[in-house]
Amino acid sequence: METSLLAAPLNQIEADALIVLSFEKEEGGPEPLPGLPVESIQELYQSGEFKGKSLETALLRRPPGLKAGKLLVAGGGKWTKFDASELRKTSGAALRLLKSKGARSIVLALGPGFSAEPHVAAAIEGAILGDYEPDRYKTEHLDEKKTVASFAVAVPEATPALEEALRRGRIVAESQNFARDLVSEPANRLTPTVLAERARQMAADQDLECEVLDRERMQQLGMGALLGVAAGSEEPPALIVLRYRPLESAPDAPHLGLVGKGITFDAGGISIKPSENMDKMKYDMAGGAAVLGAMRALAQLKPAIPVTALVPAVENMPSGRAQRPGDIVTTLSGKTVEVLNTDAEGRLILADAITYAKSLGCTHLVDAATLTGAIVVALGYVYVGAFASDDALLERVLVASKASGEKMWRMPLDDDFKEVLKSAFADMPNIGNRWGGAITAAMFLKEFSDQTPWVHLDIAGTAWLEESKPFLAKGPSGTPVRTLIRLATDWTG
Ligand code: BES
Ligand code: ZN
Ligand code: ZN
Repeated sequence: METSLLAAPLNQIEADALIVLSFEKEEGGPEPLPGLPVESIQELYQSGEFKGKSLETALLRRPPGLKAGKLLVAGGGKWTKFDASELRKTSGAALRLLKSKGARSIVLALGPGFSAEPHVAAAIEGAILGDYEPDRYKTEHLDEKKTVASFAVAVPEATPALEEALRRGRIVAESQNFARDLVSEPANRLTPTVLAERARQMAADQDLECEVLDRERMQQLGMGALLGVAAGSEEPPALIVLRYRPLESAPDAPHLGLVGKGITFDAGGISIKPSENMDKMKYDMAGGAAVLGAMRALAQLKPAIPVTALVPAVENMPSGRAQRPGDIVTTLSGKTVEVLNTDAEGRLILADAITYAKSLGCTHLVDAATLTGAIVVALGYVYVGAFASDDALLERVLVASKASGEKMWRMPLDDDFKEVLKSAFADMPNIGNRWGGAITAAMFLKEFSDQTPWVHLDIAGTAWLEESKPFLAKGPSGTPVRTLIRLATDWTG
């Protein structure tokens, strides 16, 4: 899909469809854009057919006075509450609707109040994200497939700053779709080796440094926790390391480490999962995919600080070689862990990846992981659970998440939760008791990040959409790619 910025009067715009925003009727709302068929729109409100609510739409065919074939009036809710995040969703929903009606060229017109850089970026992001479908393995009806060829954002005045906002929005959304593509791959096609290969290819395309540690190297280093999880699979593990370095940075500059859980399939190991919904466990590498997606964007957006990404890629399977409940492994940190449940494997591979990240010089760590079912119980499919050992780093993450429209909620991480992490035979067990499972999982990770400022994002509830939304297809959501990008690009040293 081609994207562009446009500055033209509405009645000059030629497109299959033109989208305009229209809000709930309230005092002091924005003036309608010059050239709009205001009577037709007025009628929509008067008939009660359209109220201007968020994500509400009305389609006018052959709108009077316009060259565009259709006019989509897109509700924005209350104009006082309408921000870039709302626009991202509105733009995506409008694109998806128009695409289903066969529109190939689409223009979204933004009025003076809603056409600053964040709006233009969000509008483009929404369109590119809304356009995405995880359908690459469908062979039927390919010839009839509806595609949008071009999407333009029309603004009162096209400036270089807005062109740059459009470029950045496109990079962000394409990188998020890159992550979604990885997540939607089934586990027979995306093994740890294939994930490492895809990362290597992306790094070569984007001029990032890439290194992949194999089993032998992990053995030399002493990554016993990661290797324990890998033991049950025929597929060898891979630890993917990508590096972005700015042209100049002070020797004492912060160095951000992004760590992503890369379990390409989580059968649970010997503590095997029930078969119902086990197919979903191909998305257990969504944290790793998000980190790779973020690096793809950062290579182009060039933040001021160095960023290193680490993705431990492993398949968690039961077999005659698999680790057993009760096994004790020695982690890279030297701490020993009693593996009481082989299905709590994410924290084991992350423990070693986090320790390794510190050894590479990362001064601040953020991990993203589909870590626990318990976070879904706590926050539903709506919020990412954010855990932090450092308030300042958490604040950066939350500011980035707000700007990106990816909802996050702080979860507690008091030492009181450590009480349940006691093992009779090793330094720690890998599970707590029934209660607060997302927190004890985070507490386990904290033992490894230790003194290094660290934020853990549990994305088990948010990385996968069980149902499509008006603005996003069912399947991988790409959360939290945008937050990770923003975190790095807003960091000025
Ligand atoms: N990958 C799962 C967590 C998960 C659950 C992700 C649902 C996405 C959707 C993780 O490895 C796991 O199995 N966690 C266990 C931990 C338990 C054994 C302490 C869980 O949440 O049940
Ligand atoms: Zn598991
Ligand atoms: Zn898992």
